[in-house]
Amino acid sequence: SLPTTFDKPVSIAVIGGTGLGQLEGYEPIAVLNPVTPWGSPASPIQILAHNGTHIAFLARHGVHHQYAPHEVPNRANIAALRHIGVRTIIAFTAVGSLQEEIKPMDFVIPDQAIDRTKGIRPFTFFEGGVVGHVGFADPFDKHLAQVIKTCAAHLDGDGVVLHEKGTVICMEGPQFSTRAESHMYRSWGGSVINMSTLPEAKLAREAEIAYQSICMATDYDCWHSFEDVNVELVIKYMKSNVGNAKRLIGGVLDQLSKAEHSDLVQAKHWAGASQGAVKFM
Ligand code: ADE
Repeated sequence: SLPTTFDKPVSIAVIGGTGLGQLEGYEPIAVLNPVTPWGSPASPIQILAHNGTHIAFLARHGVHHQYAPHEVPNRANIAALRHIGVRTIIAFTAVGSLQEEIKPMDFVIPDQAIDRTKGIRPFTFFEGGVVGHVGFADPFDKHLAQVIKTCAAHLDGDGVVLHEKGTVICMEGPQFSTRAESHMYRSWGGSVINMSTLPEAKLAREAEIAYQSICMATDYDCWHSFEDVNVELVIKYMKSNVGNAKRLIGGVLDQLSKAEHSDLVQAKHWAGASQGAVKFM
């Protein structure tokens, strides 16, 4: 069995969503179970070796997909990653498409988000005497987005279709949207919809972590006459797309391990974003 400690800080993490519960093809080095002041993360954190560097992998919904979107321990997930040294997160998520040109199996690198969660998920580290406000005008990291776009361009023609920007609507769930809501989100300019990006991205910003989602379209939501979204559809498309996701992540990790990206990976540009108000142990 693997060691449960690892003595070097690990800067880069991948958060896997539905259909990406593990990251195969990397050498497992350790499995960590940090307990944070906000509880335990959804899954043990796997430390994997990749071309001389180390990365962390966390399964957002738990190893057995036991946490529904509204039950994911987001604060513990982000705090645990920050605690082991993570300053850069690439977060995978299955999404429904709100636009004809975003087809099931396409990837989207969103640059904007609209929060339609209902305030029932713990959504901040700033409370109980810790007062702070972070900017969130641009919820994702544009430098990280650029690296991902460049890598995806190399996979283009290889079955990977990538949309370079978009607005992700994050709804509460666990029920999918009504048809009226789906049409409303389209009228708002939404590109894709999921149940996971928020508050994950907000907490990452509070923790001064560079964060970018990679959305994988699994359905057309219910505005489209094609086929109303259901869980089987989401899982079917995620299964057929996991190979592409893994090739993309391999390319991104290769890039990020280069010395020229070390300031990005260390999130130097986010240092001080939350005035160091929260202590992550
Ligand atoms: N995740 C995948 N497809 C979705 C949809 N249509 N709505 C919300 N979350 C989703």
